[in-house]
Amino acid sequence: MSPNYPYNCWYVGATSDEIGSQPLGRRLLGRPVVLYRAPSGEVVAMEDRCAHRAYPLSAGRLDGDRIVCGYHGIAYDTQGQCVHVPSQENVPVGARVRTYPVIERAPFVWIWLGQPGAAALRTPPATPWLVEPGWASQGEMLHVEANYLLLHEHYLDLTNVYAMHAANMPPGIDRLPSLDEVEVSEMSVSYTRALPPAPLADWEAEATGLPHGPEYHRREQGFFVSPALHVQKWAIDTDAGAFEQLRIHGFTPESPTMTHVFLRIAHNYQTDRALVSAHLRHFFLDMTRRDAALLEVVQRQLAEDGEPRRGINVKADRAGLRARRVAQAMVAEESGRPALRAVATAGG
Ligand code: FES
Repeated sequence: MSPNYPYNCWYVGATSDEIGSQPLGRRLLGRPVVLYRAPSGEVVAMEDRCAHRAYPLSAGRLDGDRIVCGYHGIAYDTQGQCVHVPSQENVPVGARVRTYPVIERAPFVWIWLGQPGAAALRTPPATPWLVEPGWASQGEMLHVEANYLLLHEHYLDLTNVYAMHAANMPPGIDRLPSLDEVEVSEMSVSYTRALPPAPLADWEAEATGLPHGPEYHRREQGFFVSPALHVQKWAIDTDAGAFEQLRIHGFTPESPTMTHVFLRIAHNYQTDRALVSAHLRHFFLDMTRRDAALLEVVQRQLAEDGEPRRGINVKADRAGLRARRVAQAMVAEESGRPALRAVATAGG
């Protein structure tokens, strides 16, 4: 399977707490990358491959703000420039490794692996629920053996919950209503659906502390913010305001069949109660692991069939298909192919 992800996009490369004084090696978009934190606090990202004999720099060590290869000891500065060769006085002309633009917005470290000059034209998407007062969040990282678009499509069609997680749905609602509207822009897709009033599911009551008995309206919203980020919002409307819980997924392809999932669970109520955050984290992490196990089966099935896309589409697929088309158009643009052709064949 060839890469179906755009490079000219900010992706989550790591979480802030992963990056310290030890080099972190990670394959992102098919490329080996090493990340580390310089003594100044700045995060540095560069090709994880020594310019000498291809040994991974992540297997080396840090010396101040330099990274030192673990094979023959060649050192590089934060710009990727070779600055020291232990066995000779001078460094070879042009000896360097590629560095990548990085923007740290805790808890995420965003990385740009596309055209170097294009990074400044875009910024990483905002994730206010992870930083602003009035919200609490926790997270986890998963490694899923599935293409990143399978993950996007899965979370843009929540109708799968009745087959996969039926016990977690509000009692008395046996299916999700149709999508009210799917909005599409150049790089994003979003939808909203309103649910009929129903009592709380056990997990909702436990998290919110609201009484079980009354019926509540809910809104479910999904956002394909970019090929790198999906957000799903589940809001319970009450007279005292909306009790919102969000699943924020950073999807970063490791390869066409493997995806790093940077999961964050955020909520806007009882933000000072660690037990509530822990409950939501445990609840959604359990669901995410079951989702991942299913998608890995689908990925293996697609690989064994040798036919990457063959299947009918139903109405609930609308948002997922739109997202796939956005990603395909971006890939087509990067490759110089006409974007419209990619859109026309996107559902196939
Ligand atoms: S391979 Fe890195 S110094 Fe030789």
